[in-house]
Amino acid sequence: MRPDDKEIERAAEVLRKGGLVAFPTETVYGLGANAEDATAVGRVFAAKGRPTSHPLIVHLSASQHLDDWAVEVPDAARQLAARLWPGPLTLVLRRHPRVTLATTGGLETVGVRVPDHPVAQALLSAFGGGVAAPSANRFGSVSPTTAEHVRTELGEAVDMVLDGGPCQVGVESTIVDVTSDTPSILRPGGATREQIEAILGTPVEVHASSAIRVPGQHPSHYAPRARVVLVPPEEIITAAAAAAARGERVGVLLPADATEMPTSVHAVVTVPGTAAGHARALYGVLRDLDEQGCDLILASLPEETGLGLAIANRLQRAAGPRPTA
Ligand code: TXA
Ligand code: MG
Repeated sequence: MRPDDKEIERAAEVLRKGGLVAFPTETVYGLGANAEDATAVGRVFAAKGRPTSHPLIVHLSASQHLDDWAVEVPDAARQLAARLWPGPLTLVLRRHPRVTLATTGGLETVGVRVPDHPVAQALLSAFGGGVAAPSANRFGSVSPTTAEHVRTELGEAVDMVLDGGPCQVGVESTIVDVTSDTPSILRPGGATREQIEAILGTPVEVHASSAIRVPGQHPSHYAPRARVVLVPPEEIITAAAAAAARGERVGVLLPADATEMPTSVHAVVTVPGTAAGHARALYGVLRDLDEQGCDLILASLPEETGLGLAIANRLQRAAGPRPTA
């Protein structure tokens, strides 16, 4: 059941009073606070356990408000906003003074997006201002794609959770830096590189490991508790059998149309064979394998076109080095 008008109004009031509201977007659930309230934004960082230098995205109800939150907006940004908003695209622009530096992690730039979800839209319209929101998970872990994931992970740290059902896209927004003459992708996501290039009429580079301190660019981000190892698709059955023989509790992530399924492993989960289905299911199945008690997850990378680029990026980060502390 979608939240009704009364619940949305109550959530907007929580935001006005400096509280935290978790809400659904088409990508993943966000943990929202008033983007102009440094104290409220501070609570977001505390709830996530996230370093305060890592910037948050400001969510707006419509692109017509863009100039209230960013300055020196270039044509490329306007073209992308006109075609892809509401939708899974975040534009990095020069910060308008009304955006508190707490939101931008001290940066003079701000990430802005207009989400495409009726509950997010209703909340943003009722609130009227910008909502600073990272994904509603603990720092470094897998983003939540259901309200239940948020409750399990953040519990009492959130004043209110709006339940809008499972997220349709399933991976986070694509972040495009439009502050220089050549726009670049800082994080692949729900809006594809191909879509962005078609709109701009030019190739766009993916700088997913730029020098800017961006949490999504920490190798260990988007990681479940279990170790993730990437294996070529033709080797995954053999690798799974070998790990199981070593005594590991192996979870295998496979496309539903795989011709062969491993046997004698701890768990097997399948994701739809389409990139959209794979993206939608990805974080949920990683959580599921954790819950099933796997200590090793084996997966293969999809082709890196369309949404496959974002899926591959998240799997690579999940498989990346973890902090030892
Ligand atoms: O789909 C999404 O983008 C979700 C939903 C809730 O909107 N949000 C999300 O937020 O994924 P978060 O905080 O988990 O990831 C946002 C990324 C971070 O890597 C952050 O560093 C980057 O956006 N970012 C935000 N502002 C930035 C800026 N001014 N310059 C560079 N990167 C920025
Ligand atoms: Mg996140």
